[in-house]
Amino acid sequence: QELQMNLEQIEKNGYDHFMLKEIYEQPNVIKDTYRGRLHADTGIIKMAGVEDNLQKFLNANRILIVACGTSWHAGLVAEYIFEEFARIPVEVEYASEFRYRNPIINKDDVVIAISQSGETADTLAAIKMAKENGAFVFGVCNVVGSSISRETHAGAYTHAGPEIGVASTKAFTTQITVLTLIALRLANAKGTLTKSDYFRYLQEMELIPQKVEEALQTNDVAQKVAAAYKDASNCLYLGRGYNFPVALEGALKLKEISYIHAEGYPAAEMKHGPIALIDEQMPVVVVAPKQEHYDKIVSNIQEIKSRSGKIIAVVTKGDTQVKDLADHVIEIPEVSDALSPLVTTIPLQLLSYHIAVMRGCNVDQPRNLAKSVTVE
Ligand code: G6P
Repeated sequence: QELQMNLEQIEKNGYDHFMLKEIYEQPNVIKDTYRGRLHADTGIIKMAGVEDNLQKFLNANRILIVACGTSWHAGLVAEYIFEEFARIPVEVEYASEFRYRNPIINKDDVVIAISQSGETADTLAAIKMAKENGAFVFGVCNVVGSSISRETHAGAYTHAGPEIGVASTKAFTTQITVLTLIALRLANAKGTLTKSDYFRYLQEMELIPQKVEEALQTNDVAQKVAAAYKDASNCLYLGRGYNFPVALEGALKLKEISYIHAEGYPAAEMKHGPIALIDEQMPVVVVAPKQEHYDKIVSNIQEIKSRSGKIIAVVTKGDTQVKDLADHVIEIPEVSDALSPLVTTIPLQLLSYHIAVMRGCNVDQPRNLAKSVTVE
């Protein structure tokens, strides 16, 4: 027993929880994930699984992404990125819905299955179904040699290392990293990005670890905000565009580990329902970096303010407009829209972590949840 405890202490490497350790590993594991694949100086992206099947990707009528949980959120981010960079239509499906609804699958479809564990039963079943229907199936897994990595035709591993905390953190950002590289590779082959944009993204990818490092410096602010809202019973997360899936993921993190009811919404959809919930008791986390349609999110924030909601905003360093309206701001470094989820998601991970700790929850092993769901 004692030996077991000591081993765990060693594995946590000085952190109180695996989740916190894994949050802090992100600058390094993102780098590990693109190392050897991304060559910003020459403009080359090398991923064997993609290169060997390049024609299949280029001929795809559409890309279908299947996943569950946090991996599904990474799929949503990828949808925006693939469509923007490579102009390939993308649909993102919950594996559990996909497999039971007699979906239309063609042999010209490319199916991407995303799974940290590589063992999720529904995702595995969706893959088998897609294969039976003649689709090419590509896996994005973290666990090497896992069932999904073996069942797919080809794939690319995320190199996040073992993720022990049940709430997924570094798996999410490394999944987005892999998917962004694939989208950039296809964009380059298709000529759907200008040369200068393509090179700019490659160079910016190499700066992401540094930006994530800076985003981790929001830890103290996140802790203060956590102290102010730890007793909330509800929380709303809003984001637009690339940061809409980040809002969903932020809400999922909070409910998973702190048991506070949280919902993520596209900011503009607020007026179709959630706005009815807003009063002075309701914390609203708004992911509002300087991005396209920034003015729209500012007006969403005004709507929350006029109903006395408490506004916690993730903003770009130097922002003044949102700062004037929000109760709390968490500042992150400047990053282009498409790559922003890798950075904006960091303070949301920290916020839910601190709230869960303050509420005395079992952060690494939340009640009723499993790290990998191998049953239906
Ligand atoms: C469980 C885990 C989540 C994970 C989801 C999908 O619910 O608790 O953290 O996102 O399964 O798992 P996968 O291993 O397929 O990514």
